[in-house]
Amino acid sequence: MSLGLPIPRLSELLRREPVDVSRLVVKALRERGVREILEHVQKHLKGLNGVVLDVLSGLSVGRHVWIVGPVGCGKTTLAETIAEVLNLGEPPYIEVACHSHMTATELTGDIDIAVALQAGLDHPLAYIPGPLVLAHGRILILDEINRLSPYSQAALLQALQEHYVLIRGLRVRSDFLMIATGNPAEYSGTYDMSEALADRMKQVEITLPSKDILKEILLWKARMYTQELEAEISEELAEVLATMALLIRRDKASETEPSVRSCIYALASTVSRAWLQKKEPTIEDLRREVLQNLISLIQGDFSSEEEKLRYLDKKFREALLLVRGREH
Ligand SMILES: Nc1ncnc2c1ncn2[C@@H]1O[C@H](COP(=O)(O)OP(=O)(O)OP(=O)(O)O)[C@@H](O)[C@H]1O
Ligand SMILES: [Mg+2]
Repeated sequence: MSLGLPIPRLSELLRREPVDVSRLVVKALRERGVREILEHVQKHLKGLNGVVLDVLSGLSVGRHVWIVGPVGCGKTTLAETIAEVLNLGEPPYIEVACHSHMTATELTGDIDIAVALQAGLDHPLAYIPGPLVLAHGRILILDEINRLSPYSQAALLQALQEHYVLIRGLRVRSDFLMIATGNPAEYSGTYDMSEALADRMKQVEITLPSKDILKEILLWKARMYTQELEAEISEELAEVLATMALLIRRDKASETEPSVRSCIYALASTVSRAWLQKKEPTIEDLRREVLQNLISLIQGDFSSEEEKLRYLDKKFREALLLVRGREH
């Protein structure tokens, strides 16, 4: 597979010319047209046109963007789809799945001292560039940026601030625009974003879709995932699930809300389980799948798993009553 991305030698990297990445973004926007870009994103995600414009308006003036939102609301898909459609290079973007043990040199790349001593610093194996260096002239996606430790954040900050990455004291030019994703600070398992880093990004928020959009997404994606089964999915199942998600969102008892992802899978596996049993999916089948797919996500002041189950069950029944009441 040709990636069109030869690994450059250190001497070439040290001679790198600056690239105005925001100009490349504007050129791509002119060439493809905003309407076409929005249509492309809609092939993957529904209801996020405003968010796409927020991201593009940042990138086109050279501002890095941080897409923030709850679990499973489309952050990573959105970052990848926008980077893909802008197509600034080959490959169009470099992506890093951040984690809390990621070291600064995993981001920058490091010199292999043994190779350098034997074959010289310019040997192709003496330095394998890290993502911050590879991203020159294109988009860098940092998925789950707030999992980066303060040490790795510092390496990133330097690249954003100076447009240089330091490799054992050697300054390698790197110009990129970053689309970062992350959960809001209140989620556990994440580090605080340093103020200096946060100041260098535009924060764009994805909120959960309205009930009607959520219902459309559920039907669309669940039908996509169950395509091979050739099974029908009734509107009522999607309506009950979307209504339940909305009821939980409005309810103070739960601190988190069912994610779009978990709702899609609850609906899709309702259909596949009924298919395995050679029958039509029923509301009772959906209830069962909702409990299994959503229980791990729901957090709040619940004393036990049983209490959480009872809570979900109650919300499901309330949603069903609302939907059936509306139907009659
Ligand atoms: N607005 C939407 N339209 C269509 N599909 C969506 C939407 N939001 C989420 N999804 C679907 O939900 C799934 C999760 O998306 P994705 O992984 O991009 O979310 P995320 O916010 O990055 O999740 P996490 O917080 O777990 O990293 C994908 O299959 C995606 O297609
Ligand atoms: Mg993600």
